[in-house]
Amino acid sequence: MAAVPNITLNDGNEIPQLGFGVYQIEPENTAEAVGRALEIGYRHVDTAEMYGNEKEVGEAIRASGLDRSDVFVTSKLSNAFHEPDEARRAFDTTLSDLGFDYVDLFLIHWPLPTAYNGDYVSTWKALEGFKADGRARSIGVSNFQVEHLERLAAETETVPAVNQIEVHPYLTNETVRGYGREHGIATEAWSPIAQGAVLDDPTIGEIAEKVGKTPAQVVLRWHIERGDIVFPKSVTPARMEENFRLFDFELDGPDVEAISALDKGEDGRTGPHPDTFAYVPG
Ligand SMILES: NC(=O)c1ccc[n+]([C@@H]2O[C@H](COP(=O)([O-])OP(=O)(O)OC[C@H]3O[C@@H](n4cnc5c(N)ncnc54)[C@H](OP(=O)(O)O)[C@@H]3O)[C@@H](O)[C@H]2O)c1
Repeated sequence: MAAVPNITLNDGNEIPQLGFGVYQIEPENTAEAVGRALEIGYRHVDTAEMYGNEKEVGEAIRASGLDRSDVFVTSKLSNAFHEPDEARRAFDTTLSDLGFDYVDLFLIHWPLPTAYNGDYVSTWKALEGFKADGRARSIGVSNFQVEHLERLAAETETVPAVNQIEVHPYLTNETVRGYGREHGIATEAWSPIAQGAVLDDPTIGEIAEKVGKTPAQVVLRWHIERGDIVFPKSVTPARMEENFRLFDFELDGPDVEAISALDKGEDGRTGPHPDTFAYVPG
């Protein structure tokens, strides 16, 4: 099978363009799912403090027998810990829960512009410290809108390596992606198949039939052709295999454009809006 390509980030580090997401996988099922994903060939796992399964992700990677350096691991700061001292404590806990002395990528999970006096800038400066001391090889953000990225650019030294945002055929999120492209910030597309909501779309079905692939493979390949990084989640081994087989076919330009044209703008958003999302775990 053709290898998963790497994307080079703005700090020179490389990230596999396809990974495995573990949001909404119960802790008791996580080690098995991640272990299976690693057997299939995934070498990139996307977790977060708020998913509650970092321990099990670390366990599965250790149990796989792979070298730590062979697996790219991302985690994210809980919304509960934006205040810099708390962010530092939370990052220590992430490393000890994973059982690793570094993560490949650490993200601010949400900007929370209406919480913490809107001060995600001092939170970002705490992450700059994690990069400086080598415990986060790369640092980035998630769910940042253009205005949030502009503020980091004006007030801090480090351009985020990635911005992880909701992107799928019904929310193509072109404005935020475009800002990233212009400023060297790689886009990571979360909920890449909109948790299944795009798979019955007739346009996607027709293209899938034409190229002899499944709707999920067509949508994931569309992301790959657009240059974004994806990490579909599944606890179903056959789907985990299906989602990994994206590199033995291509979509032609008109098919990529036809899928991009399914964009519904804000009506296509499935998750919270980053400007107003203010959830802070108690
Ligand atoms: N930064 C953020 O705020 C944020 C937010 C959301 C997600 N994420 C990240 O992005 C990752 C992926 O997003 P997501 O988990 O929300 O959604 P997703 O990957 O778009 O979809 C996952 C859902 O689709 C099903 N599925 C997976 N592969 C399928 C296939 N080939 N055919 C049919 N159904 C399939 C899964 O079911 P089964 O598991 O039952 O097979 C699951 O219900 C997350 O795990 C997380 O790492 C980040």
